[in-house]
Amino acid sequence: MNLEEVKKLYSDYVLNTYTRTDLCLIKGKDTIVEDINGKKYLDFFPGWAVSGLGHCNRHVIKNVKDQIKKIVHVSNNYYNELQGELSSIIIHNSFNGKVFYSNSGAEANEGAIKLARKFGNPERFEVITMQKSFHGRTIATLTATGQDKVKKGFDPLPAGFKHVLFNDIKALEDAIGPKTVAVMLELVQGEGGINIADKEYVKDIRRICDEKNLVLIIDEVQTGAGRTGKMFAFQHYGIKPDVMTLAKSFGGGFPIGVMVVRDKFCDILTPGTHASTFGGSPVICAAALGVFDAIQKDGLLEKAEKMSLILKKSLDAIKARKPVIGKIKILGLMIGVELNVEDASGIYMKCLEKGLLINCTQKNILRIMPPLCVKKSEIKKAMQILEESL
Ligand SMILES: Cc1ncc(COP(=O)(O)O)c(C=O)c1O
Repeated sequence: MNLEEVKKLYSDYVLNTYTRTDLCLIKGKDTIVEDINGKKYLDFFPGWAVSGLGHCNRHVIKNVKDQIKKIVHVSNNYYNELQGELSSIIIHNSFNGKVFYSNSGAEANEGAIKLARKFGNPERFEVITMQKSFHGRTIATLTATGQDKVKKGFDPLPAGFKHVLFNDIKALEDAIGPKTVAVMLELVQGEGGINIADKEYVKDIRRICDEKNLVLIIDEVQTGAGRTGKMFAFQHYGIKPDVMTLAKSFGGGFPIGVMVVRDKFCDILTPGTHASTFGGSPVICAAALGVFDAIQKDGLLEKAEKMSLILKKSLDAIKARKPVIGKIKILGLMIGVELNVEDASGIYMKCLEKGLLINCTQKNILRIMPPLCVKKSEIKKAMQILEESL
């Protein structure tokens, strides 16, 4: 097939819910992807952060290949050894508690909202989230999301969500009332334009949640699995969440949703109150175990820290030459480059033409999230393309 033929199939048969670029990718290895015409690209935004370790990571592929020959899916009414093993690894790398599996970030967040509501039932049900946050596209998670554009046309939305200014502790304190049961936030807002939470702010939130018996839900769907240079972003802040949600990179390219629940809250969801048919199936757990293998055996956290410094240096140098660049926001390999223009989509398209895939969010923020395996030479080439495009 050629691109036109694929596009025709889409226009005839695929629901038109995405803004799609004229690009059909058919192969990928680590940072490099290839399109249907054989053109290669540096992928500095792999699958909206899903292929965060790089495309077709060898540890993930090996585990999946081995598992697929044995058994693909097991009902959650039976035991599956890989789910047990993966859960123990997650807990040993995060905080004391237990794990629940689903298939996506939205579903993981939905579980966290349910847990909080059941904890507060019947008096407390309100969840406070942040402006510019993004938590998913299900009815509850789009209501939790602090951006009006995702909600238009879906009224009536469920009650019980409030949004406050990010990084403003007073705004949060003022919003807490007798019905509040949880605070939910991303430590680095991804869709919101790479907004990094201040250390004191997060510590204050933790303290307030303890004082007022609120569930602190940290959405690590985009930041988890090494993206910020630590396995989980909360590890930058010296606090522990009550509930942490994971997805995207955590499945190494396979669909996963994870809700990690701290000890204190482990008995709230009981048999019959929450479930997911596909959640934590052996193949998906094998993929996620491959993600841990890759991060640990290939030293990807240390590499990500190093590459982050190199990227920061190059971006600062470009900024000195190109006044169109405003603020550079960076934590590990999660990077936002603010441009002093109203709409930066033209730059994104220029980069694409020249063989670099990045993302543009909030109209004028270039979102750059190379895979953790990115090489110095690839950063050099990507930065050259970015500068030419600017
Ligand atoms: C922080 C955050 N939470 C939740 C989601 C929703 O995840 P999913 O698309 O897997 O449902 C996203 C997706 O971009 C996200 O960035």
